[in-house]
Amino acid sequence: MPELNLILFGPPGAGKGTQADRLRIDFRLPFISTGDMLRANVKDGTELGKKAKEYMDQGELVPDELIVAMVAERLGEPDAQDGFILDGFPRTIDQAEALDKQLSELKRHITAAVLIEVPDDEVIRRLSGRRVCVKAGHNYHVEFDPPKRDGVCDQDGSRLIQRDDDKPDVIRNRLEVYHNQTEPLVDYYDQKGLMRRIDGTRSPDEVHDHIRAVIATLRLEDDV
Ligand code: AP5
Repeated sequence: MPELNLILFGPPGAGKGTQADRLRIDFRLPFISTGDMLRANVKDGTELGKKAKEYMDQGELVPDELIVAMVAERLGEPDAQDGFILDGFPRTIDQAEALDKQLSELKRHITAAVLIEVPDDEVIRRLSGRRVCVKAGHNYHVEFDPPKRDGVCDQDGSRLIQRDDDKPDVIRNRLEVYHNQTEPLVDYYDQKGLMRRIDGTRSPDEVHDHIRAVIATLRLEDDV
C-alpha cells in the first residue's frame, strides 16, 4: 500500500498533538513533532536547545535553518521510510519548500496537509488551561480533559505542569506569529490540491473521526 505522509497544521492549541497521538496509533506511523523535539533538546541542554529556547520562550519561531536540518535528519531515520505524521512543521513557506525538495529527491511526496481550524478566543481558553506531564508530555486540560487525580498524569503517574509558553502574553504572540508566518501555507497547500480542512472546535473524538474519514477518502480516491 502506498505510504501516508501527513502534515497536521493549525494555530497553537488547535489540537494537533492531541490528534497526532491518536492517528499514530491508528496508522502505526511515527509522529514527528518539532515542538516536542525542540523541548527535548532544551531539556537535554544541547547546543540546538540553547539556541531554540530564547525563541520558544517568546513565542517566536526558531530560525528555519535550525529546524529544517533537524527535520531532514529525523525523516532520514528508518521508521519514517514508510510514512509519517508531521506536527508543527512546516511553519513557513521556506520550510515547506525545503520539505518538498527533500521528499522529491527521494521520489516521495506529501499525501495531505490537514488544517485543524480553531478561532483565537478558543485557542486562548485551551492553552491557558493546558497541563502537560513532565515525563512524556501527555496533554490534559483543567476543564475539558482533566486527569483523574489533580496534577498527576493518568498514563505515567508523573507531575503535570504548565508550559512556559502557555502564559497569556506569550500565547498572544504565538497567535500573531501563526497568522503572519504560518497561515500563508494554507494557500501553498491549497494550490497543490493537498489541503483538507477540519473543524477543530468539535470534541477531540469528533475531530479524530473527521480526520480518519478524510484519510479513508484519500485512500479510496488515490489508492494511497
Ligand atoms: P509546538 O509545540 O509545535 O506548539 P504549537 O504549534 O503552538 O502547538 P501546541 O503544542 O501548543 O498545540 P496543539 O495544536 O498541539 O494542541 P494540543 O493538542 O496540545 O511549538 C512550540 C514552539 O516551538 C513554537 O512556538 C516555536 O518557538 C517552536 N517551533 C516548533 N516547531 C517549529 C517550526 N517548524 N519552526 C520554527 N519554530 C518551531 O491541545 C491544546 C489543549 O487543548 C490541550 O490542553 C488539549 O487537552 C485541549 N484540546 C485539544 N483538542 C481539543 C478539543 N477538540 N476540544 C477541547 N479541548 C481540546
